[in-house]
Amino acid sequence: MKQALALSGQGLVTNQLEYHPYLDQHPLVSATREAGLAITAYCGMAVGRVFSDPLLRAIARRHQRGVAQVVLRWLVQQEGVVALSRTTLLDRLTENAAVFEFELTQNEMAAIATLVRPGSRIVNPPDLAPVWD
Ligand SMILES: NC(=O)c1ccc[n+]([C@@H]2O[C@H](COP(=O)([O-])OP(=O)(O)OC[C@H]3O[C@@H](n4cnc5c(N)ncnc54)[C@H](OP(=O)(O)O)[C@@H]3O)[C@@H](O)[C@H]2O)c1
Repeated sequence: MKQALALSGQGLVTNQLEYHPYLDQHPLVSATREAGLAITAYCGMAVGRVFSDPLLRAIARRHQRGVAQVVLRWLVQQEGVVALSRTTLLDRLTENAAVFEFELTQNEMAAIATLVRPGSRIVNPPDLAPVWD
């Protein structure tokens, strides 16, 4: 990101990164905010891992929401984060867009952040990925 910022003749708008409850992205999220860019999060569903998570399921039950909504809400409730999501089902598209009428508590936000586990990076193509921070 720093190289791209230095080399670009135009201002950059966003940094798109893998971001879900299991991957610690604190260094990159902070650096992206400091650089004045939006954070665009992909792989929020952690290739389906979120759907069987007991904590996420409990929070979803409490709010009478789906797990995907809880994850997307957790993302967009963080400063400067835009969440990408993808579905082949129209009903899920509507569900996934409906994350602006409820709010997670600070305790719930913090609890989701404790789900970070080593080795949770998903997108890591051998010939393309950098040495990660
Ligand atoms: N820059 C990069 O390297 C990179 C990498 C990956 C993705 N992306 C971008 O990110 C976008 C989003 O892709 P993603 O893989 O990150 O999407 P995602 O939303 O994390 O995961 C999509 C998967 O979750 C399922 N899903 C979505 N909503 C659901 C719901 N409400 N309930 C149950 N299952 C649900 C979908 O299945 P169904 O279709 O069956 O609903 C699909 O299998 C992509 O279009 C791409 O542009 C970028």
